[in-house]
Amino acid sequence: MSGARIAVLASGRGSNFEALCTSDLGGAEVVLLATDNPGAEAVVKAERLGIEKAVFDPGTGHGVSRAGVESSIAALLEDRGIDLVCLAGFMRILRGPLLDRFGGRILNIHPSLLPSFPGLDAQARALEYGVKISGCTVHYVDAGTDTGPIVLQAAVPVLGTDTVESLSRRILREEHRIYPLSARLHCEGSILLDGRTVHLPGTEGIPGPFASL
Ligand code: GRF
Repeated sequence: MSGARIAVLASGRGSNFEALCTSDLGGAEVVLLATDNPGAEAVVKAERLGIEKAVFDPGTGHGVSRAGVESSIAALLEDRGIDLVCLAGFMRILRGPLLDRFGGRILNIHPSLLPSFPGLDAQARALEYGVKISGCTVHYVDAGTDTGPIVLQAAVPVLGTDTVESLSRRILREEHRIYPLSARLHCEGSILLDGRTVHLPGTEGIPGPFASL
């Protein structure tokens, strides 16, 4: 899928959005940022990077109801001929319209080694639990919370001196590495899905090439 068009959905800071925009995606490119938060830093980043942005603010009462946000986004993505959707800190569970129309073509990045610590505050919960290794996961999105097939994971150590902030920073560096790589692999057609197992032909014998422990 050379020349694949990617949309990023983000509600906040947008550092993964920026990493996707500025990484080598092998011919694919990010062409759109959609957000449900007009105050998102990601919007400012899109302006700076010259990427089209679309704000669907359920708070304004200007025609976008809370339930209608997802349908409106899905319609825009179809209109723009989007091939792959990357969720990057999009604070909304997908309820239907996006999954119906882009199923198997939506990725998410999560700041833990799934299936441990799905949902919110993953880094804080990992720290509190006392795990010695954490990391991040890129996965396809299904109807569950952080339950879809895993594409790539990267591990980082958890240090005795860590705070939520320091652990989050260490994990984020890995997010910025494996998210663009996952998007590229998807767009190049290098991912084979077998049930919930992702195969990356050509890399199967290589132990953990994507981990940095
Ligand atoms: C990241 O930690 C990501 O793993 C999670 O939300 C955060 C988004 O950060 N899903 P950013 O907006 O990409 O900087």
